Amino acid sequence: MRISVIGCGYLGVVHAAALTELGHDVVGIDVDARKIQLLSAAHPPFFEPGLPEVLTSAMASGRLRFSTDIADAHGSQVHFLAVGTPQLAGSYAADLTYVNAAIDALLPQLSEGDLVVGKSTVPVGTAGRLAGLIEASGSGARLAWNPEFLREGFAVKDTLAPDRLVYGVGRVAVPGGRVARSERIETSSPGLDTAARSAPGLLDQHAVDILNEVYAKAVASGTPVVVTDYATAELVKVAANAFLATKISFINAMAEIAEVTGADVTQLADAIGYDTRIGRRFLNAGVGFGGGCLPKDIRAFAARADELGRGESVAFLKEVDAINLRRRQRVVDLVLEALNEEPHLKKVAVLGLAFKPNSDDVRDSPALDVAVQLHGRGATVVATDPEAIANASRLHPQLTFVADHIEALTDADVVVLVTEWAAYRELDPAALRARVRNPVIVDARNCLDATAWRAAGWTYLGLGRP
Ligand code: UGA
Repeated sequence: MRISVIGCGYLGVVHAAALTELGHDVVGIDVDARKIQLLSAAHPPFFEPGLPEVLTSAMASGRLRFSTDIADAHGSQVHFLAVGTPQLAGSYAADLTYVNAAIDALLPQLSEGDLVVGKSTVPVGTAGRLAGLIEASGSGARLAWNPEFLREGFAVKDTLAPDRLVYGVGRVAVPGGRVARSERIETSSPGLDTAARSAPGLLDQHAVDILNEVYAKAVASGTPVVVTDYATAELVKVAANAFLATKISFINAMAEIAEVTGADVTQLADAIGYDTRIGRRFLNAGVGFGGGCLPKDIRAFAARADELGRGESVAFLKEVDAINLRRRQRVVDLVLEALNEEPHLKKVAVLGLAFKPNSDDVRDSPALDVAVQLHGRGATVVATDPEAIANASRLHPQLTFVADHIEALTDADVVVLVTEWAAYRELDPAALRARVRNPVIVDARNCLDATAWRAAGWTYLGLGRP
C-alpha cells in the first residue's frame, strides 16, 4: 500500500519505518526541515533501541522517503496522523494545534477512497470533529482512529508486534455502499451530541478492510483487533495510560505509608503482585512517572472530563498526579537530609536524566526535575546519563553534565540514582566506596541491592523501604 505518515516524532518515525518493513511504500512528512534531513540520511533524530537498524533497512529498500512537502502525501491511500498533542501552556488540556494544522494541510491532498488514520492521543470527540471536516471537504476520504500503545525503549517491537489493535471507525448508513454517507459522531463542543452518539448505521467496513491490509501480518498472527466507534477508540488510549499511571501512583502511595510505618514497599509489591488479578508489572515504587505521555495524558483526560461535565468521574487522576509529584519532592528532601540541610558547596551526583532507561527523552522527566530542584537549592549538581545529556542540557544549561558516571560521582557528598539504566543498576558499591567523599546513595528507583550497598559501607536510602 502507499502510505503517508504525517509527523515524524517518536511515534511517526517508528511507525513509518515499521510500515516499510511490513512491505508498504511510505512517505514520512514533517514541517521540521532539520529532522527530515537527518531522516533522509537514515539517522534517527532521537535514541530508540533497534530504530537505526530498521530505518537503514527501510531506506535501503527504496520504499521509505521523507519530505517536508505535504503534497507528497497525495497519491497515498492511507494517511496516518502522528503529530504531537502536548499539554497546552497554562492549562491541563491538550494542545491540538499540530493536529488541526496537519488536517488542514492534508485535506487538499485527499482523494476518493483514501483513509485518514489518527494515531495521536486526543481528547475524546476530536475524531468526530475531524471526520466532519473531511466529509465537508468533499474528497470522499474517510477517517479512522487507531491509537498507539508503543512504549519508548520498545517502540520498534511494539509497533511490529502490537499486543492489540484498536480501530475506531465511523458509521455508514448503506452497508457495502461505495461512498456511504458517514453518520459521524458530531462534537458540539464542549460535549458530545447525544442524538449523533446514538445514530444508527453500520461501522465503516471499508476502513476496517484497509486497516486489516495495513496490519496484515499482525492480524494474520492472531493479534486481537477491537473494531469500535471513534469515542471508544479515543478513550481506550487515555484509559490505558490513566490506568498505568494510577497503578504507579497506587504503589507510590503505599510507599508513603511504608515510610511512616517501617514497612517495605518492594516486598509489599511482590506480595500483592502474586495475585494475578493485580499483577506485579508497573508496581515499582520510586520517583514516579514522567515522559511525554502519562503525565500530560492524565491531565488532558481530567480537563476533557471537566468539559463534559463528568469531572468527578476521573477526579482521582488529580490525586494520581499529586502523589506522583510528591515523590520527586521526597527524593529532593532525602538528599537535603543527607546533606544536613546544608546543600551549599556540596556535590550531588545525579545518575540519570531520561524519564526512563533506554530513552533520551527528558520530557517531564522526574530525574531532570530532581536535578534542577537540587541545583535550585544551592547544591553543586553534576548529572550524567548514557543518552539524554544533549536533550537535558538544551533545557537546563545551568546544570553541569558529564558523560562518564564514574567522573560524575567522584568526590560526591550524595549520589542519587534517578533513572535505572543497566549501567547504574550494576554499579559495584565496594569499588565506588573510595571514589566518593561521603558514601550515601539515594536509590530513587528502588533498583539496587540495599544489603550489598550497606555491606560495602554505604548509607542506602530507598523510597518506601526501611
Ligand atoms: C506509555 C505507555 O506505557 C504506552 O503504552 C503508551 O503507548 C505511551 O505511554 C504513549 O502514550 O505513547 P512510555 O511513556 O514510553 O509509554 O513509558 P512507560 O514505560 O509507560 O513509563 C512511564 C513512566 O512510568 C516512566 O517514567 C517510568 O519510569 C515510570 N514507571 C513505570 C514507574 O515509575 N514505575 C513502574 O512500575 C513503571
